[in-house]
Parts: sequence; C-alpha cells; structure tokens
Amino acid sequence: MPVQIIVGAQWGDEGKGKIVDHLSENVDIVARYQGGANAGHTVVIPTITPNGITSKEYVLHLIPSGIFHKHVTCVIGNGVVLDPVALMAEIGQLHELGIDVKGRLLISHNAHLIMPYHKLLDSIREQGEEKIGTTGRGIGPAYIDKYTRTGIRVVDLLDRDTLGKKLKRNIEENNRLFSKVYHSKELDVDAIIHEYQEFDKMIDEYVTDTSLYLHSALKKKKKILAEGAQGALLDVDHGTYPFVTSSNPTSGGACTGLGIPPTAIQSVVGVVKAYSTRVGNGPFPTELNDETGERLRKTGGEFGATTGRPRRCGWLDIVSLQYSLRINGIQKIAMTKLDVLDQFEEIKVCVGYMVGEKKVRNFPTDLRMLELAQPQYRTFKGWKTTTSGIRSYGKLPARARSYIEAIASLLQTKVWMVSVGARRDQTLIAR
Ligand code: GDP
Ligand code: IMO
Ligand code: MG
Repeated sequence: MPVQIIVGAQWGDEGKGKIVDHLSENVDIVARYQGGANAGHTVVIPTITPNGITSKEYVLHLIPSGIFHKHVTCVIGNGVVLDPVALMAEIGQLHELGIDVKGRLLISHNAHLIMPYHKLLDSIREQGEEKIGTTGRGIGPAYIDKYTRTGIRVVDLLDRDTLGKKLKRNIEENNRLFSKVYHSKELDVDAIIHEYQEFDKMIDEYVTDTSLYLHSALKKKKKILAEGAQGALLDVDHGTYPFVTSSNPTSGGACTGLGIPPTAIQSVVGVVKAYSTRVGNGPFPTELNDETGERLRKTGGEFGATTGRPRRCGWLDIVSLQYSLRINGIQKIAMTKLDVLDQFEEIKVCVGYMVGEKKVRNFPTDLRMLELAQPQYRTFKGWKTTTSGIRSYGKLPARARSYIEAIASLLQTKVWMVSVGARRDQTLIAR
C-alpha cells in the first residue's frame, strides 16, 4: 500500500483521530496535509496505572494521530498552517505523558505559520454579522497571507533576520488595519519578533523537506497514511461555502498538501459518523433542534474537542454523503459511533431532499437551495441493545447490521470498519 487517505466525509469530528490511531499499528508514516490547530482529533489509548489498565483520552490539534505508536513517523505537510505556540504546547504535553516526538516528527519547511495577527483578525471578523463560527485559531487569515504571497513559512523561523523583517512588515501592515479600520488594539512589533525569533532553536530539529522524505519513503515501499482534518463538507472549494474552513480537507488536498503525486494514492477511506454533527454556522438539512437532537448530543458527547462548543446534531444524510464519496473518491467507509444509536427506538436516515415541489437528487452546492432543502427520511427500527462490548461484526444485532448495510447500499460502497466506542479495541472489521 503506498498512500491511503483518511478523510472526514461530513462536517468534521467524525472520529478520524480514532480511526487513524487504529490503522497506525500497520503503517510507517502518518502525515497531516491541511488545516491547523482548528482540528481536534481524539485518541483514546490504554494506559497502565497501579490499579490496572485504564483508558486515557488525548486530543491532538497539529500532531498526526499516529504519534502514540512508537514505530510511526509523523509528518506535518506543507499544506498545514502551523501555529508554533500551539505546536510547542502539544509537544510539551506529549512529553509529559512520556511520549518523545524527537526523531519521529517531521515538519515541512514550506508550511505557513499562524501568527498572533492572524488570530486577532479571526476573532475580529467573527464579531461581525456574517460570522462563520470559526474556531478562532487564525486559520482563514493565515491562508489569506499564503495566497497573497505575504505569508511567513516554517523555513523563515530558521533565519532570524529574515523572520524579523517579514514579521515587522506584516505586523505593521496589520496594525494599520487594527487601529484605522477595526478600532482595536495594535500588536507589539518588538515583543512578537522577540518571541518568534526564539522558535529557531525549538523547531530546527523537526524541519525538513517532507515532500522529499515522503518520496524516498514511497520508493522504499513504506506504508503512508494521509490524515485529513475537518471534513469534505467544510472544504473551501467543495463544501457549504462560505461556511467552510479555508483549506481542502478532501482527498485532492493530500497531494498538494504533502507534495506527493496522485499516482501514489492507493485508496481513500471516508470516516462517517453514524449520524451527523456540525460545529459553527451554515446549512445542515438534517439538523434536529428538538429532544432527539439533544439526546444525540448527550449520548454522543458531542462537544467540540478544540473549542468545547456544543455540536449541532441530526440524522445521517445520504445526499451529502453521496456527494462526499464522489468528490473524494471514497472506496470504503469507516463508520463510527454506532453505539450512540444503541437505545434509540427508531433511527432515521435522509435519503433525499425536497426543495419546494422539486425532488433533489444531487447535493446542492448553491447555499440558498441547501437552506431550503427538506429532508426525506427512511426510518429504521432501533436495536435497543448495547453494542460497545461487541468485538466482531457478525455479533452486532441484526437491526444494527441492517442499518449499516442499508447505508452501504444507498451509498453503493463498502463499510470496512465499524466503531462501537472510542477505544482501540472497540473497532470491528466488517469484512
Ligand atoms: P475527529 O476530529 O474526526 O478526530 O473527531 P473528534 O475527536 O473531534 O470527535 C470524535 C469523538 O467521538 C471523540 O470524543 C472520540 O473519542 C469519540 N469516538 C470516536 N469513535 C467513537 C465511537 O465509535 N463511539 C463513541 N461513543 N465515541 C467515539
Ligand atoms: P476536526 O479535524 C469540526 C469548522 C468551524 C467553523 C468552520 C471554519 O477536528 O474534524 P476555521 O477555524 O477552520 O476557520 O472554522 O470550520 N471547523 C471544524 N468543525 N471539526 C473540525 O476539525 C473543524 N475545524 C474547523 O467550527 O464552522
Ligand atoms: Mg475533531
């Protein structure tokens, strides 16, 4: 297997961290290709304590979810926007847990940096009427600088003079904006330059040409997992624009975000939650603003891993998933959080939309149409049995298997894995 891409097929938080950690056992490299510390990928791993083995939960924002497997090298690709402050905090937290990333973490010299003015701009823009509901991590403004070619890259951290000049130019330009347009505080140019010039010593050992590294790994037939952040419906090109993130979480982003050719991609796995969630604003046709939505949120623990915000919840949406499978080229899916549906009397799946009198078969990318979409549901009887202790697909209740197989059939795809809990051992291989 050269490269396998793991993408979120919905609006993020599908359980990518869990699936990537699970698959990492059998790969050599895990590489993040886009996004930044807006991501929150939860991994639950067994931990030995004096009282026996318990499970511990870790939330990763920048470091790939393969880091808990000591044989795995983790790569942060050129497509990621890297906040060095967040990175160092994460490295420090892992260190406290006894996980040393030295020699196992490689960061692209070409990745763009998130600076304090990006975070300030993000928060100021979110105070306006047309807010997206961002994570406030400076993602959009950092990608703006990348595309206007004024961005500062990881490699610049290694040259204090260049960094100082570029930072001075960018902070001063943003300060004019902060004071004149937004009437907000200005940032301290010297303090920021001083703070960021110190990163050279801390980051130097991780920085390399990661595209070259991945090419050489491919030649050696190493197994590589490309870990997407966010989800297909948050993609800046293919998502529910403008209520999206500013990168390409879809599978195409893995090539540009890692500097690997499309010919190296062997397969694309879509991570699909057994129902739907969304954080932040934007259309969500199957959203449930009622007791059932509240029950999904409570049972599924649907609160953001990065911001703690309650996630909006609703039933699974086949129309959006068909679209997601199409634009990502998803060949098989990993279905997560099936156990959350265990005690529901009935479970609904959206199999079509009505817009006015019109039946809509294809996911509308026109926002106004999507906002008008009325979901048409197929109802499944619940299985009313706890699945979290089940360890083989065949032992799942017949109604749970019917649910999974109906989804596979509606999507004309294979369900590869089914997750019935956050732990590694709660993962069933469907075939
Ligand atoms: P990611 O951003 O796609 O990695 O997903 P998040 O980590 O933001 O959110 C997924 C949440 O669901 C985390 O709290 C996981 O620990 C949890 N989780 C993952 N898979 C399962 C599962 O099969 N069942 C349950 N109950 N929780 C799960
Ligand atoms: P993971 O990788 C869910 C959402 C935000 C907001 C929009 C834009 O954990 O699945 P941004 O800060 O990126 O400019 O915000 O995107 N968003 C996510 N939603 N999971 C994520 O990441 C997200 N990252 C960003 O809530 O609606
Ligand atoms: Mg998340």
